[in-house]
Amino acid sequence: MRIAVVHGPNLDLLGHREPSIYGRTSLADINGQLGELATALGVELEVLQSNAEGDLIDYIHEAAARVDGFLVNAAGLTHTSVALLDALLAVDRPYVEVHLSNPAGRERFRRRSLLAPRARGVVQGFGAESYLLGLRGLVRVVCEGAHEQRGA
Ligand code: DQA
Repeated sequence: MRIAVVHGPNLDLLGHREPSIYGRTSLADINGQLGELATALGVELEVLQSNAEGDLIDYIHEAAARVDGFLVNAAGLTHTSVALLDALLAVDRPYVEVHLSNPAGRERFRRRSLLAPRARGVVQGFGAESYLLGLRGLVRVVCEGAHEQRGA
């Protein structure tokens, strides 16, 4: 199984960026923790962070051919990007949405996620742990899908 992790705009600044909201863990640390969990679960990971919406969309298009699912923190694009949602729907792979903070308890404009209604699950509010919980959930979803295809 292979999973793509997609980090959206400004997540490259984690560790310094509004630490009272997002914590002090850097993106490199999060990716390291995800890599360790993936190894333990026997899953391959690939990771992209971009501040550009079009680059994220292009990546989803081309990665879909080789991955079984997407773990996505679309950051600010969560609340605005129909195009990113369309890309995820177009490639027809399960995706799990994650957030470090709990957007539901923040400004009103963060309370709506365009991605959530079609996500297989959403994990938010647990800092870096949201990614780890999200990866576990996504791996389970992909495994269950594989079983169903084999008629198990
Ligand atoms: C975020 C929440 C978003 O509202 C925000 O724009 C981000 C980070 C999170 O992980 O908590 O950039 O996705």
